[in-house]
Amino acid sequence: MTDTAACWTALENTPTATLKELFAADADRVGTYSATLTVEESEVYFDWSKTHLSADLVARFEALAEAAGFDAARETMLGGGMANPTEGRAAEHTAQRGIGADESVAEADAFHMRMRGLVEAIHDGVFGPVKHLIHIGIGGSALGPALAIDALARPTAEWRAPVDVHVVSNIDGNALEAAFEVCDPATTMIAVASKTFTTIETMTNAASAIQWLEESGVPDPYGKVVALTASPDKAVEWGVDETRVLPFSESVGGRYSLWSSIGFPVAIALGWDGFAEFLEGAAAVDRHFADTDGFANLPLRAAFVDLMYVQLRGCQTRAVFAYDERLALFPDYLQQLEMESNGKSVLADGSPLGRQSAPITWGGVGTDAQHAVFQLLHQGTVEVPVDFIAVKQPGHDLDPEHHAILLTNCFAQGAALMAGKESDDGARAYPGNRPSTTILCDKMDPATLGALIAFHEHRTFANAVLLGINPFDQFGVELGKQIANQIAAGGGEGFDPSTEALLAAAGLKD
Ligand code: F6P
Repeated sequence: MTDTAACWTALENTPTATLKELFAADADRVGTYSATLTVEESEVYFDWSKTHLSADLVARFEALAEAAGFDAARETMLGGGMANPTEGRAAEHTAQRGIGADESVAEADAFHMRMRGLVEAIHDGVFGPVKHLIHIGIGGSALGPALAIDALARPTAEWRAPVDVHVVSNIDGNALEAAFEVCDPATTMIAVASKTFTTIETMTNAASAIQWLEESGVPDPYGKVVALTASPDKAVEWGVDETRVLPFSESVGGRYSLWSSIGFPVAIALGWDGFAEFLEGAAAVDRHFADTDGFANLPLRAAFVDLMYVQLRGCQTRAVFAYDERLALFPDYLQQLEMESNGKSVLADGSPLGRQSAPITWGGVGTDAQHAVFQLLHQGTVEVPVDFIAVKQPGHDLDPEHHAILLTNCFAQGAALMAGKESDDGARAYPGNRPSTTILCDKMDPATLGALIAFHEHRTFANAVLLGINPFDQFGVELGKQIANQIAAGGGEGFDPSTEALLAAAGLKD
């Protein structure tokens, strides 16, 4: 077996052609580099033909995957083994979807049944009329619920979620106050979502929500609270009755926790069947990821593309544009998933990575982004691999013209980035040869969203394995938290002069 260094050298020495040349050389390039994933009754189509991937690069990336022990790493993660050695635990988000060690899957099922019971009790009026749920959490305890609610629970002419969900993450009181403004305290429940049940933003917001209920004259405010956590004892200690604590396993990472009880608001908005479809969509991708090897494994293939741009072509960012308003929060979700997982400069054993870590993930919604940032993508000096995500079926009842213009623009951007345009006037010339991937979903329903998220989780994992990174820890976010806590506790002497001056200017220190 070759070592990974030799594989990287072989990759770095592989000549690459332009996109135009690659298409000219292979009449079936679209067939070779596109693929379809079947998810329940619908399909997700992936087109990587407008990237610089070639047969030579694929062969060498497959060799890298072998040298990096991809198959064994995948088995370890999916089997509930020690996938997160620096924190000394497994990474068992797939067990929430039914794929994992038997005992972990059984535990996840039991926790889901407990959650289902509470969701149905709320829908059945056991807690009186509940019209609003304020979901309080941050990072992985908020980004997933916010995305799923925005994508799947928008009111239409025919349907309205039984409970309006408001996700609040920021410690800035403006965020919580905005939720209070639109909720009636008498018919509002509060979900406190925190894996650790210690995060300062979440606990402060939760205390303010209790105070709001109290001041509004709601009897027994703590009786309106549901806790979603891997630290159930802390939730009980804080004041939540044990019957309304929905636990999940410590081995489910924060940014991978949407499938656990952190998904409670999603089940509240969609009903249990909708949440179960969401899990099943993800499980369909898990099965594909577990059972498919090499280039045919789509998350692994996506990682080949990612690494080609970052490691071989020096791209420092990757952009994701959702050509669908329902997926407007998808780039935000991916930022945490990808940057908190793989934004690391050391290998899993603590030795230096020695190459660029994950790129900066950024993006927005199309077509708005076209009128804001696409100038740089087309004519700037940097190469940015772009992912376009679109959905065939619109989510609205307006004139179909809207959706046709949306999709046409999406495809036109990919075509323009690749083709470019010659002009005698330099200002009007487009270099072209700029890469993009298109992901086209049949529709936006719980199963498809589940599949889309699971695809990106596995893509992130595959990137990590090929680089040798542990994607499941996040020590880089601790230092800022520690300093803030130190200052909040009245301590923290001797900061740098700039920080001291800022603290004094804001009246936070003498
Ligand atoms: O900011 C780091 C982080 O630990 C994330 O990984 C996590 O999703 C978030 O904070 C929230 O943590 P918790 O769910 O424990 O409140």
